[in-house]
Amino acid sequence: MFNFDFKNPTHIIFGKDRFGDLNHVVPANAKVMITYGGQSAVKNGLIDKVKNALGSRKIIEFGGIEPNPQYETIVKAVDKAKEESVDFLLAVGGGSVIDGTKFLAACMTADVKDYKELLQYGMMPVPFEVLKKPMDYGAVLTLAATGSEMNTGAVISVGHDKYPFMVMNNYPQFSLLDPTITFTVPEKQIANGIIDAFVHTAEQYMTFPAEGRIQDRWAEGIMQTLIEIGETCIKEPDNYDARANHMWAATMALNGIIAVGVPQDWATHMIGHELTGLFGIDHGQTLAIVYPGVLKSQKEAKMAKLVQYAERVWHITEGTDNEKADLAIGKTEEFFKSLGVSIKLSEYGVKEDQISDVVKQLEAHGMVALSETGKITLDVSEKILKSVF
Ligand code: NZQ
Ligand code: ZN
Repeated sequence: MFNFDFKNPTHIIFGKDRFGDLNHVVPANAKVMITYGGQSAVKNGLIDKVKNALGSRKIIEFGGIEPNPQYETIVKAVDKAKEESVDFLLAVGGGSVIDGTKFLAACMTADVKDYKELLQYGMMPVPFEVLKKPMDYGAVLTLAATGSEMNTGAVISVGHDKYPFMVMNNYPQFSLLDPTITFTVPEKQIANGIIDAFVHTAEQYMTFPAEGRIQDRWAEGIMQTLIEIGETCIKEPDNYDARANHMWAATMALNGIIAVGVPQDWATHMIGHELTGLFGIDHGQTLAIVYPGVLKSQKEAKMAKLVQYAERVWHITEGTDNEKADLAIGKTEEFFKSLGVSIKLSEYGVKEDQISDVVKQLEAHGMVALSETGKITLDVSEKILKSVF
């Protein structure tokens, strides 16, 4: 196991009928900006519930943060928050709204001339000299998928380019996780959310053995849970326990706990981001397309963990290592398809000759040596994309 540090200060408020708790976790004298996305949070009455819970606090609203939040939109929110001297942010939404709010929190206090400077560090945290302490914020999660509700990462889009953005100490102060809020999430987004949580887990697990036995078993538990509840989440939108397990699995998949002391991959996410940026394919769908291709391409490097995954997650006990690995990859594909998600790039309206555009974007973003081994070069990414076309 590698050396590691672990600290996650986000207070999770989990369960139904917990809105009243917002009154205890938002500072009493705060001037709050509530941020949200399109209209779902307004239509579902969530914004009213949040406002009621905040009582007499001064409240400003900023709606319209789009899926794959755009830089320009967040800059408008920063201008408004500064103009109104807001001192606490409350995101009500899925990964896009929470990510946008995380970036907003950073822009509020960063020592930069142009907020775009904050997006130049990729997966490295923004240096302390540039950003000491983002503005405090909390979240009311409306869609289980990204884990943004309990981590410091965000992904911000500038036109067609998606920029990962990381700040140490940029955790939400709290996140309210009420599974009943997800009852209204469209089926497609539920499927995306299950796949996102699954692939987050897999990308921190399917690497090479590092004697992270606890981390491995946590990861296997998360993947098994998602496999067990996946179809129920789709077929029974108001099944509380299925949605509760999805929500908690998604949070645990990317709050740092399964990542400690073990190697990580992230090739699928980086390639997937380019598919979203260029073609507007949903984040979860890009992962369903790319991940099986990455596993097939990197089968030798990942063999030991693939066999462990086959045996422990899919209970495949017969056959050679190679056969077990192949069967487990096939089971993973079937699982994604069972959620109603297509795993072929061509089925999203992309033409084969556009794969070269994806490769150009990967190069432009420095994604030239991906995965835990760094062996997914541009040529390998191109082969992976062709294999899943
Ligand atoms: O905008 P509204 O009207 O709210 O509709 C949203 C949106 O259209 C809708 N929705 C959300 N909650 C709902 C609901 N509809 C009905 N009822 C509800 N309760 O769902 C749509 C998608 O929402 P979005 O927030 O975009 O989805 P998701 O949570 O999957 O977030 C995707 C974003 O997160 C980034 C992705 O790149 C993408 O930009 N990621 C962030 C990560 C992180 N911060 O750690 C890691 C991930 O790998 C990912 O990259
Ligand atoms: Zn993801």
